[in-house]
Amino acid sequence: MSALPALTIAPADKTELDLTSIRADFPILRQRIHGKSLVYLDNAASVQKPKAVIDAISECYSGYYANIHRGVHLLSERSTMAYEGAREKVRAFLNAASTQEIIFTRNTTESINLVASSFGGSAVKAGDEIIITGMEHHSNIVPWQLLCDRMGAVLKVAPFTDTGELILEEYERLLNSGRVKLAAFVHISNALGTINPVKMMVDLAHARGVPTLVDGAQSVPHLTVDVQNLDCDFYAFSGHKLYGPSGVGVLYGKQALLDAMPPYQGGGDMISVVTFEKTEYADLPNKFEAGTPNIAGVIGMGAALDWLNAIGLDAVAAHEQQLLDYATAQLLEIPGLIIMGTARDKAALVAFTLQGVHPHDIGTILDREGIAIRAGHHCAQPVMQRYGVPATARASLAVYNSRDEVDALVKALWKVKELFA
Ligand code: ALA
Repeated sequence: MSALPALTIAPADKTELDLTSIRADFPILRQRIHGKSLVYLDNAASVQKPKAVIDAISECYSGYYANIHRGVHLLSERSTMAYEGAREKVRAFLNAASTQEIIFTRNTTESINLVASSFGGSAVKAGDEIIITGMEHHSNIVPWQLLCDRMGAVLKVAPFTDTGELILEEYERLLNSGRVKLAAFVHISNALGTINPVKMMVDLAHARGVPTLVDGAQSVPHLTVDVQNLDCDFYAFSGHKLYGPSGVGVLYGKQALLDAMPPYQGGGDMISVVTFEKTEYADLPNKFEAGTPNIAGVIGMGAALDWLNAIGLDAVAAHEQQLLDYATAQLLEIPGLIIMGTARDKAALVAFTLQGVHPHDIGTILDREGIAIRAGHHCAQPVMQRYGVPATARASLAVYNSRDEVDALVKALWKVKELFA
């Protein structure tokens, strides 16, 4: 009798992650929606929060909360230490050279507006140009339009291919005009999932003396970002997509640039001396943090970084990549389903249309199955215009998602298909 070949049975979730324990960290994942287990696939809009983050915020308010940088009393000292401790965590997370380069803001949008207003307002003149790409979120379009309108400058847009990849030659061509004052581009597109070659884009800009801003809202929860290696001049992201609370964000900026920029907003905490005749500003980073900040939010974001670091972004990326490949293969089996954004380098989201069904109907029917996705233009209307669609449905993945949840999504979409057949 011939020997049978050895059977290798691949585990369903071939990953380094302990998914059961990760999922147990998220109280909300135990919720039932319309009587069904919650399948949360709207992570690109905002991600759920682990207990460590919820506890850190609660401990701040119940244990040591006070205003920061101001008091001599113990609670103020403790809050200040926790707040500044979070700044050091962000510095390490991005591998920035100094905590002076880490500015806390409300979100990615405010970080970009800060640069547009402060850097743009002082460096940009009539006839100058700002470059963005065709796949930007409105947050990386509108602040530059406002700046261009104010200064008489011109917004230039680097196009992308049908698969959702930036046309680098066109980007490079735009950089060559000699009038470009800044190139601002998204790291991972929230509407397509494309991972842009940001290091190359920074290098191409720097070769022409053009500073760069990277919108990292979608990238920081999915891949390791090293701002010194990237050499970008500004990097912006939000806490709420990074397992932290909403209402807190980060602007990284190179110290020399931030030092040379005027304050964004005036008020308390951003000054060193105020008289009615003249105000001297505080050193970095305080110069850009006017008013009482989101103290507990910043501390919560620090706790989110601790939680994420304990898992490791490499493991997160590997898990999400497996899920993305699995989901993509299953979804393409559904007749009439078209995926928008098929870049070779792509992060864990699938945006799609289903022939004969409006994306909002898809979203509503899936909700009845307990599945949360986003349907709409994803704050990226020019991307929808590029493909000639009003909206797409989008399932976006996070570290806590499982193959079973992808199966639930696919099964529900077959149901939608049958309903509209
Ligand atoms: N920018 C967020 C999204 O993509 C809100 O859904």
